[in-house]
Amino acid sequence: MYDLVVLGGGPGGYLAAERAAEAGLSVALIEKRSVGGVCLNEGCVPTKTLLNSAKIYDYTKHSSDYGVTVDGSGIDHAAVVARKDAVVKKLVAGVKGALKAGKVKIYECEGIIEGKGEGYNVRVGDEVVSGKNLIIAAGSMPVVPPIPGLKEALDAGFAVTNRELLDMTTVPKTMAVIGGGVIGLEMASYFNSAGSKVTVLEMLPNIAGAMDREISDLLCKSYTKKGIDFKLGAKVTALGSDSVTFEFEGKTQKVKADCVLVSIGRRAATNGIGLESIGVATERGAVVTDQFCRTNIPGVYAVGDVNGKSMLAHTAYREAEVAVNHILGKRDVMRYHAIPAVVYTNPEVAGVGETEESATKKGIRYKKSTVSMMYSGRYVAENTEYDGICKVLVEEKTDKIIGVHMIGSYASEIIFSAAMMVECEMRVSDVKEMVFPHPTVCEIIREAIFKLK
Ligand code: NAI
Repeated sequence: MYDLVVLGGGPGGYLAAERAAEAGLSVALIEKRSVGGVCLNEGCVPTKTLLNSAKIYDYTKHSSDYGVTVDGSGIDHAAVVARKDAVVKKLVAGVKGALKAGKVKIYECEGIIEGKGEGYNVRVGDEVVSGKNLIIAAGSMPVVPPIPGLKEALDAGFAVTNRELLDMTTVPKTMAVIGGGVIGLEMASYFNSAGSKVTVLEMLPNIAGAMDREISDLLCKSYTKKGIDFKLGAKVTALGSDSVTFEFEGKTQKVKADCVLVSIGRRAATNGIGLESIGVATERGAVVTDQFCRTNIPGVYAVGDVNGKSMLAHTAYREAEVAVNHILGKRDVMRYHAIPAVVYTNPEVAGVGETEESATKKGIRYKKSTVSMMYSGRYVAENTEYDGICKVLVEEKTDKIIGVHMIGSYASEIIFSAAMMVECEMRVSDVKEMVFPHPTVCEIIREAIFKLK
């Protein structure tokens, strides 16, 4: 009997296993595909390697702006994919190494919960693994809506999800992306740089979902300029063998494509893992959890995408720690209000806390300061193409920083400092007293704070 059995080896699962092992618990980790989960194998990390190649290539297109001569630059997509595979291999090996060093027993096999005896039982092949505690970290799957022709298009390989697209070794000449959320935008960004003619079909009036609206509109403008065709408010009605049909501005239209990416969201992977055998409660397909990541069953926790709260790898990491700390009897609690979100396009987009839209909806009275990234000396020194903005939202009543949103290079790295301000409930006066390194792009937050009226 293990102290802890972890079902699923993505960021939530592997970190839970690592942390529990570090604390001296005996741990088994069960993973049916590859340790590292979607994030490491077919999500965050591989996408970032592709996007980095695109960014380097994009720079070469404007190299003369920087006084640099580059002849004959291009993207060798097969080489980009090969590098991505090497990066993934290296990082998966790193995670496996850390687990082995912690003496975590790894089962590379499908696990199905099979009821409770002395502990919680999970079937792995011919064996039953039992744990005093169980962390469910089974992740999520792409949503496949009942659009006529979509299933056939997926079977034929004309339509793909993120997983297949990342392994494609040729660049489609034309590409339709259904869903202008995070996956859709990051993949559209790469394939646009790699030479595809990309059309994004998004049913909402804006891209990038819950991101600050002013920022998502700027991102849309920037990529329209780079050649992506955004159809906002488009309702996809059917897929053929080489086209997508959609309703747009009151008319039925069609876009021909060599490849269609389906990126309209993900759903918790709760089917077929045996939750019913121990009575774990679900709601709209996701495991119900509290602020300690506990399910309704004592000793059973759910972390990461499977609880449907915030489908982000970094949320999963934190939830894993909260669950393990609860098992260890340490006080720790999950807070969801300061989780940063990033879209790794070029320009990058990042945000944390309330947006103007969410604050207004909640009736929070706020002050805002929006500044151009051009107030940062380093930004001007390093960018010729795009100016970007940084927006800080402050609660009127308390002067606390409640949201920071930005578009421009380094946004993904800077946003953590903003997350700390929101998480620690810092006030404007606190930030004014802090020293920011100069010249850096993160000084833009200081600029925005000092320009608050
Ligand atoms: P998403 O929820 O971010 O975006 C899906 C988009 O599809 C939405 O804008 C939605 O309005 C649209 N949509 C839904 N049905 C549609 C239809 N029938 N026709 C047209 N548009 C439709 O989901 P996405 O992009 O698939 O990503 C899945 C998950 O992966 C998200 O939870 C995301 O947070 C996570 N992820 C995070 C990344 C990051 O942090 N950089 C990178 C990639 C994924």
